[in-house]
Amino acid sequence: MATSPSGRVAVYPGTFDPLTNGHVDIIQRGAALFDRIVVAILINPTKSPLFTVEERVEMARAVFKSQPSVEVDTFKGLLVDYARRRQASVIVRGLRAISDFEGEMQMALMNRHLSSTIETILMMPDESYTYLSSRLVKEVFVLGGSVQGLVPDLVEARLRAKTGVGSGLRV
Ligand code: PNS
Repeated sequence: MATSPSGRVAVYPGTFDPLTNGHVDIIQRGAALFDRIVVAILINPTKSPLFTVEERVEMARAVFKSQPSVEVDTFKGLLVDYARRRQASVIVRGLRAISDFEGEMQMALMNRHLSSTIETILMMPDESYTYLSSRLVKEVFVLGGSVQGLVPDLVEARLRAKTGVGSGLRV
């Protein structure tokens, strides 16, 4: 496996709208395996996320502020081009259930087609997070359900501020 001057670098790409404890779990597992793990938030003008890219970066940086081996960045365009620029030899993705497998395999093989030197590693989160997704967190939160323990506390606070749920303000 190729190493950069700063050691073995992995990229963990995604939308992270918002970061969940499932993502945090995968990042911690990646941080234990690699010298540096770059949480790479896709800038995708075709999607309408709840949080802006800047807000998502800010939240992820706050969560990992005491872990210098975890970096938070954004990227546009092809993931393999970004990984190459960051001298990353590995792409990390989380695999929650068999239902994730087909899409992840397709992405991994397409990325290998585009760049044969970058490997994708699929990592399983703790089983308590296998049902968790950013989409469900947003849905449950907006409908008044509890997301405590499913997202970092600061993300929950930002969900409250953004949606007005639980603060007398509704979007
Ligand atoms: O959190 P998500 O939405 O499942 O993340 C998807 C992501 C960002 C990993 C994927 O859409 C991506 O890599 N986009 C960059 C464009 C690209 O490289 N596409 C071709 C490879 S499949």
